[in-house]
Amino acid sequence: MKMTCIYTSPRKHGNSARVAGLLCSIAKADHISVSEYSLHDGSYMGCVSCNACKQTAEICVIQDDLARVLEVLPQTDLLVLALPVYCAGFNSSFMAFVERSTSFFKYEDSDSPEDVRLPRGKRLIVIQTQASSVLEENFFFAEYFTHLGFESQRFYCIDDSRIACQWSDVEKDVQGIWKEMA
Ligand SMILES: Cc1cc2nc3c(=O)[nH]c(=O)nc-3n(C[C@H](O)[C@H](O)[C@H](O)COP(=O)(O)O)c2cc1C
Repeated sequence: MKMTCIYTSPRKHGNSARVAGLLCSIAKADHISVSEYSLHDGSYMGCVSCNACKQTAEICVIQDDLARVLEVLPQTDLLVLALPVYCAGFNSSFMAFVERSTSFFKYEDSDSPEDVRLPRGKRLIVIQTQASSVLEENFFFAEYFTHLGFESQRFYCIDDSRIACQWSDVEKDVQGIWKEMA
């Protein structure tokens, strides 16, 4: 199994990285190959609507640092996304990744799995962290990732104070998620 973890926060040692990093450590201890990418290691842009991926190319034609993250998705069996909530939504780095991942759809308006350039049957774990204990239901993209081929999905939302004060509970939760999704 090939696992990929994408850290989207600018804080490399922040909350989302701490929880997702724990999941990666557990996976590595189970001898799983894990590739980790921090979106803040490079420079990149969102989709520029050039439509090349729908007309002349099989991949996103923008050659920047996000290209090397997108290119590992076809081989990824389990994708982990580490997402801090920003303004009741997601940060702009993550949104750039989502926008550029639309290049995996052959056409703009097809829901058919045959029209997706990624193999089916992938798994997705979303680690969402936030300040508020009223958990944001930020799952607008669950259906989007299902279309992309991530048929099995697990969302874990946790607030900052639980990460700071109840870390042993978080560890138990993450161990449970690994058992469920590995
Ligand atoms: C620009 C910005 C906007 C934020 N907006 C929210 C928000 O709407 N709701 C919330 O609960 N937390 C919000 N937060 C707090 C972060 O989601 C929270 O501290 C998160 O755990 C940070 O993760 P990180 O340490 O991985 O960056 C915001 C933080 C920043 C920097």
